Amino acid sequence: MSGHGDAQPMTARKSGPLSGTAAVPGDKSISHRALIFGAMAVGETKITGLLEGQDVLDTAKAMRAFGAEVTQHGPGAWSVHGVGVGGFREPADVIDCGNSGTGVRLIMGCMATTGMTATFTGDASLRKRPMGRVTDPLALFGARAYGRHGGRLPMTIVGAANPVPVRYALPVASAQVKSAVLLAGLNAPGETVVIEKEPTRDHSERMLLGFGAELHVEKGAEGHIITLKGQPELRPQTVAVPRDPSSAAFPVCAALIVEGSDILVPGVSQNLTRNGLYITLVEMGAEIEFQNPREEGGEPVADLRVRFSGNMKGIEVPPERAPSMIDEYPILSVVAAFASGKTVMRGVKELRVKESDRIDAMARGLEACGVTIEEDEDTLIVHGMGAGGVPGGATAATHLDHRIAMSFLVCGMAAQKPVSVDDASPIVTSFPIFEGLMTGLGATLTR
Ligand code: S3P
Repeated sequence: MSGHGDAQPMTARKSGPLSGTAAVPGDKSISHRALIFGAMAVGETKITGLLEGQDVLDTAKAMRAFGAEVTQHGPGAWSVHGVGVGGFREPADVIDCGNSGTGVRLIMGCMATTGMTATFTGDASLRKRPMGRVTDPLALFGARAYGRHGGRLPMTIVGAANPVPVRYALPVASAQVKSAVLLAGLNAPGETVVIEKEPTRDHSERMLLGFGAELHVEKGAEGHIITLKGQPELRPQTVAVPRDPSSAAFPVCAALIVEGSDILVPGVSQNLTRNGLYITLVEMGAEIEFQNPREEGGEPVADLRVRFSGNMKGIEVPPERAPSMIDEYPILSVVAAFASGKTVMRGVKELRVKESDRIDAMARGLEACGVTIEEDEDTLIVHGMGAGGVPGGATAATHLDHRIAMSFLVCGMAAQKPVSVDDASPIVTSFPIFEGLMTGLGATLTR
């Protein structure tokens, strides 16, 4: 787990042109789901390209605690012997999900309709994050949750022995909440319905269909209405996990701001629920070519040729785009600092309840680097200083947040003076090869 060992400071210095190929690891969202759906299928699911980041390893450990056999066969190659929907065994100890909101919320969902009791905890970051958004709908199935004040971990969920199906309109745009309700719905009789006003990442829906669940999505004025038939027998699958577009964002954005760069980033998802950053960058004037469009692991992907883009302009990011780039605002705010003019990011209050308060973490760190910022509860505005214009020369606090750490290291690759982070250790949660991959492209990173 991150954040339990010693802090690992890291510094990025102005780097020469980045070049080469940046093959980023497997998608975090799909990796968690491959393990969890695999555990709920009957028989052996085979996975290739699994992200071996700490978040996903913690989910693998949790699935073992619930009775699934989870085995690593080689790098990224795993198998899961599932126990079937409703076949979980009560875990003998507390489930520690480390830094992972996705892990804990999805796992709460899949045990909430089993009539078992499980206690969940996590690291200092996860213990601050709200769980009520998941336990509220799980209570409608009949599950009970006993946590700390404000619905925080550690928390015990007493699952519903006789669950009832649920119709639930998501009050926040959250794929984690949507997925937790669908997972709980798997072991409830009848039809569970989730309604989302704004579409969020749809990996659960796509993968549930692949695993043989009966699910359909209607797109209407209310948004997406997702209907799932309960108590299916899920069939084991072969899952080829595509690369993570949220990890690809770091080398892509580094190449855009480091002078003279020209890199290739293969297999970046073009799934409309994940590609908001790439649309935004192109609108800002980024030189990105989308080559060789195809399908990989059930996701539309393209290879991205990315060149240094010295003339990017700040834009207003449409708020309705937020769910499709929710994890990318930290790195976008770094790119915005190297563009000319203002970049306005509205409708982003969800950033306040991520691994850290990301509006605050980015605002404070960028200000320390000499960038002018405006913010309110739901908005972040970055006043760009143009290519090469960010002074740097600061240390950013990362608050146990991998994406804050990587964002400031990318900032330091193009700023005038070095930028340090107080703790790079959380990077292992999502992008364990970040340091080697970035230095391989020519970045200067030192511990
Ligand atoms: C995720 C959903 C998003 C995202 C997270 C992964 C998922 O969280 O930020 O990194 O895999 O479902 P929210 O559901 O809180 O928006």
